[in-house]
Amino acid sequence: MIPFVNLTAQRDAYRKELETAEKRVLDSGCYIGGPEVRALEEELSCYCGAAQTITCGSGTQALELALMVFGLEPGDQVIVPNFTFIAPAECVQKLGGVPVFADIDKRTLQIDPESVERLVRTNTKGIIAVNLFGQCAPYEKLREIADKNGLWILEDSAQAFGATQNGKKACTFGDISITSFYPSKPLGCYGDGGAIFTSNPEYAEKARLLANHGSSERYRHIEIGVNGRLDALQAAVLRVKLRHLDEELERRQQNAKVYDQFFKDIPGLTPQVIAGGNTSTYAQYTLMAENRSDFIKRLNQAEIPYCIHYPSPLHAQPCFSAGATTDSGCPVTKKTCSQVLSLPFCAFTDVQAVVDRLK
Ligand SMILES: Cc1ncc(COP(=O)(O)O)c(C=O)c1O
Repeated sequence: MIPFVNLTAQRDAYRKELETAEKRVLDSGCYIGGPEVRALEEELSCYCGAAQTITCGSGTQALELALMVFGLEPGDQVIVPNFTFIAPAECVQKLGGVPVFADIDKRTLQIDPESVERLVRTNTKGIIAVNLFGQCAPYEKLREIADKNGLWILEDSAQAFGATQNGKKACTFGDISITSFYPSKPLGCYGDGGAIFTSNPEYAEKARLLANHGSSERYRHIEIGVNGRLDALQAAVLRVKLRHLDEELERRQQNAKVYDQFFKDIPGLTPQVIAGGNTSTYAQYTLMAENRSDFIKRLNQAEIPYCIHYPSPLHAQPCFSAGATTDSGCPVTKKTCSQVLSLPFCAFTDVQAVVDRLK
C-alpha cells in the first residue's frame, strides 16, 4: 500500500541526525524550553523573515494565543474561510467571538476577498486568512480590505510554512501569523507543536507572556494565560527537519508536476490552481473530481489511499450551525466540498507509482 504521507521514509532519510539531536536533549536534563527551543525560534525567524517567533504547544493553541493578543472580546466578529480545517473558527467561538464564514475562489480554493468585503460589519475586528493546502491566501487584496476597515489579519499558515508569495515567505503576511508542526505538516515534529510569528514587538511580548501562564517573572502572573510550551525534544527534531526543508519543498514541487502532467489530460479531474506569484508547499495535493464517487472506486481498485479535505462547509458543522452567518450560503464552498479529494503526497511519495496505477 502506498502511504498517504510517508513519515517513516523521512525518518529513515535523516535517522542519524535525528537520533543525535534526540540523544542530545534526552541526555541534557532540560526538556521544556531552554537552549534548544530558543535556537529553534531564532532559526525559524531567520528562515521565514519574521522579526519574532514564539513557539507553543500546537497550531490551534497558536491561533488561540493570537486572538488573545489581539484582545478579542465576546461578540466580536471575525471573518474566517468556510472551507478549511475547523481550528480558526473554533478558536474564535471558544473565546466568545463570532466566526463569520466567507466563501472561496473556485480555482485556488483560497478565501475570496470579495466575499470577505461583503461580510464586514461595525463589530468585525479581523480576518483569519488560511494558506490552504500550502499556498498563500490573496494577501494584497485582503490587506486593502483590512486597512480600509481597521481590521487585523491573522495568517493561518499551519499548512504552508516555507511557501512564498511574490518572493516573500509565508508567516510574514499577518499582523500575527501562525504555523503548526503536526507530524504530517510540511515542517512537522513527532507530536504536537506550533509557532506564532510577528513583527510587532508589543504583540510578541504579549504572546510570550500569555504562552507562559501570563508570567514574565517567576510566580508573578499579570494576565490569565495558558501552558503554551513546546518541549525541547520537538524543538530538536524540528531543527533537523528545518535544515532539510528547502530540499523537501523542491521535491514536493517535482512531485506535484508529475501529478499535474498526468491530470491535465483527464477530463473531470481538476487540480487546485496555484495562483500567479505563489509557490506551494503542497501540504495536500488536492483536486476536484466532477464524479467523485466514480474516482473513489478507481482509487480503491488501484489501492491508492485518499482523504477528503474537507467534506462539509464549516458553517454546517453542528457546533456552528445554529444561526451561523455566511456570505449567501457560500455556494462555491458547498460545491467544492462535494468534489474535493486529496492524493498521497509528501517529499518521499512515489507519485509515479500512483500515476502508473491509475493509467
Ligand atoms: C488550517 C489549519 N489551521 C490550524 C490547524 C491546527 O493545527 P494543530 O493540529 O497543530 O493544532 C490545522 C491543522 O491541521 C490546519 O490545517
